[in-house]
Amino acid sequence: MTSPLVIAVPKELAPGEQRVATVPEVVRNLIKSGCEVRVEHDAGAGSYYPDTMFAAAGAKIVSERAGLLDGARIVLRVQPPTVTDIDQLAEGTIVIGFMNAANNLEAIKRMRDRKITAFSLELVPRISRAQSMDALSSQATAGGYVAVILGAQNCPKFLPMLTTAAGTIRPSTVLVLGAGIAGLMAIATAKRLGALVEAYDVRRAAGEQVRSLGAKFLELEINAEGQGGYARELTAEEKVKEQEMVSAAVARADIVITTAAIPGRKAPVLITKETVAKMQPGAVIIDMAAETGGNCELTQAGKTVREHGVMIIGPQNLPARVPFHASQMYAKNLLSFLSLLIDKNGALVTGFTDEILTASLLVHAGTVRHQPTLDLLEGSKV
Ligand SMILES: NC(=O)c1ccc[n+]([C@@H]2O[C@H](COP(=O)([O-])OP(=O)(O)OC[C@H]3O[C@@H](n4cnc5c(N)ncnc54)[C@H](O)[C@@H]3O)[C@@H](O)[C@H]2O)c1
Repeated sequence: MTSPLVIAVPKELAPGEQRVATVPEVVRNLIKSGCEVRVEHDAGAGSYYPDTMFAAAGAKIVSERAGLLDGARIVLRVQPPTVTDIDQLAEGTIVIGFMNAANNLEAIKRMRDRKITAFSLELVPRISRAQSMDALSSQATAGGYVAVILGAQNCPKFLPMLTTAAGTIRPSTVLVLGAGIAGLMAIATAKRLGALVEAYDVRRAAGEQVRSLGAKFLELEINAEGQGGYARELTAEEKVKEQEMVSAAVARADIVITTAAIPGRKAPVLITKETVAKMQPGAVIIDMAAETGGNCELTQAGKTVREHGVMIIGPQNLPARVPFHASQMYAKNLLSFLSLLIDKNGALVTGFTDEILTASLLVHAGTVRHQPTLDLLEGSKV
């Protein structure tokens, strides 16, 4: 009898990371397909999946990193591995998770030199067959939800309309800039809390989705739908028109959630400091693009800035604030991805010929397979 394929799940050590790459329900599935699953002691503590639940699902709980990784063929992670993490892996180990390649060139180079195989979930193509593996979408959904909760918590007003003996309260206005995955979840959440919701996106196709959630779509004479359903960067003239329109909408909002992003580029600035000065006192901006430069000129990643009575929050890693469900969704994305890598007999497939595997393969057998990352490596001194 051949020994089972070993899948290891380390505890995430990045500051503030509460998620875990697998959950007990997924462990059960992997074991059913013939794998051995090892989970590092307390890996699920931050997301409320205690060791006892993993053990009941059939996982082996391992206290030492070395014991966890010894003989492991596949390592499942949430955050990219650090150089120290990589140095603990045996040659040929497959690591699957977010890789944030552009900002982790040193780790990419180390994986290349140590002949590690890395699949980057950011590179999973957005085709219908890959929807169940789309961790960018599942985590953006979690982030969009948390952004609204954070906004509501910091807003000095009620969100819903209230008719009480102490008078009638007008509903608050929530403005969502960027109606992609995170933005649509933010719109739905703000609607459920009873706010008046307005939204804007440079892709005109987003209008129908916004309206179907019961929110008002702000129209502008621009349609910047680019490649693969993503937005393209606006021209200088378009940017001026956009800022004028956005500025008026921002000035009437109580909470602004910004999510605008262009793949591979710095986030577009939609809210200037002059626009912030026109906002109502007590208004709150949750800038979900904080980590890629911010949609508001005043945003500082990981900080809360107060200007003109407006609170500008630049949160980092919002999905980690709903770690239970964010981990559950992420773990299911990974399970679906693994179905391409593991055959019916519980063995690793030979060759990564499936289109989804080919597209998401970042490093393999001593070479970087993703051209934009290769270009960055060549241009850097790493
Ligand atoms: N499997 C699939 O088919 C699949 C899966 C996920 C997403 N998608 C599509 O991908 C697209 C975007 O997804 P995302 O949420 O990951 O995008 P994203 O995170 O790259 O960007 C967020 C939003 O910001 C918008 N934006 C960019 N520049 C802007 C600007 N200057 N002003 C206002 N808004 C701006 C984008 O249009 C996008 O809607 C959508 O069309 C979505 O339906 C498809």
